[in-house]
Amino acid sequence: MTEILNISDNKYYESIKRAAEIIKNGGTVVFPTETVYGLGANAYSEDACKKIFEAKKRPADNPLIVTVSNFEMVNNVCYIDKDIEEKMKKIWPSPLTLLLKKKDVIPDIVTSGMDTVCVRFPDNKIALDLIEAAGVPVAAPSANIATKPSIVDSKDAIKELDGRVDAIIDAGRVKFGVESTILDVTKKPYSLLRPGAYSVEDIEAVFGQIYISPVAEGYKESSIALTPGMKYRHYAPSKKLFLIENEEEFREFISSHRSREFLVLCSADNAKYAKFDKIVLGKNAVEAAHNLFYDFRILDQSDKKYGVIQAFPEKGIGFGLMNRIRKASFLIIKDKENIDKINEVLNES
Ligand code: TXA
Ligand code: MG
Repeated sequence: MTEILNISDNKYYESIKRAAEIIKNGGTVVFPTETVYGLGANAYSEDACKKIFEAKKRPADNPLIVTVSNFEMVNNVCYIDKDIEEKMKKIWPSPLTLLLKKKDVIPDIVTSGMDTVCVRFPDNKIALDLIEAAGVPVAAPSANIATKPSIVDSKDAIKELDGRVDAIIDAGRVKFGVESTILDVTKKPYSLLRPGAYSVEDIEAVFGQIYISPVAEGYKESSIALTPGMKYRHYAPSKKLFLIENEEEFREFISSHRSREFLVLCSADNAKYAKFDKIVLGKNAVEAAHNLFYDFRILDQSDKKYGVIQAFPEKGIGFGLMNRIRKASFLIIKDKENIDKINEVLNES
């Protein structure tokens, strides 16, 4: 049975205490972070972490992020040189996850046998209070079942995970809506493993220029996986999603009769061009990031067979947003020449 923990004012501490107790006893708890919901267990316990893989149906070769609530915990789980230590103090807590050399206390199951560990110090009161109360670092991947979009609302956590975990903290919507940015600081040049809620501009202000592989844009043709997780299908709704990157072309498509078969996912500015059913993602990349995974689930529950989505400017969180949109898309239309590919897909199905 899954306990649903209420965090309204008079229940807050009782619920945090209960969730911490479950973690201490080797159980699993779904909790909010500022990015997406996580599915956590005691990072020091192999048996507890095994339950994460089972609950999420996650392949064993896809390692977990270790989530901490203070700098002492950081020191307990990984090796840090002076330079990185100073930078950590500047950036944390925040949605920037760092890849570091792991210490032996972290069992192999967490890192899929690698000698590195992803460490995350989230900027979310509930997450921090929970980890602090548990007194141990918490291994926590995104809470979604593997291959599904990440979970940004506790309603979706309950729908997807009721019966699969010991408890779910019912805390509503999260702040950012896309996962943390991951930066590898084990070697120079530091390199971006996954774009996300923490912008490249903000990283470079502290770490100097970093290496950004073209893979980070999210186009699928790239065969190199920067993190083990990348080789798996991610973030995608189960309905086929079409991305039209050229704005003019996107407007033309959504104002055409053909768009009747689609649920249109667009910005507030483009909503007026949509002739049939649409969802407004927001007026800019920040709002679109906040709503993207939530709206993917609406698309999946709708009676539409397809979705069509626009591109957003790739500055700030927009870079992580476009990585998620591209990875979720069944087909990406980059320019005018290949828009007919949409027809080919429709004719096939
Ligand atoms: O915002 C977030 O980071 C959320 C919240 C819940 O904290 N968590 C999250 O975890 O997105 P997850 O497991 O869905 O994504 C972590 C990614 C995976 O692609 C995984 O392969 C990669 O980090 N990763 C974890 N440990 C790694 C390691 N030692 N080396 C390389 N990549 C690693
Ligand atoms: Mg994930």
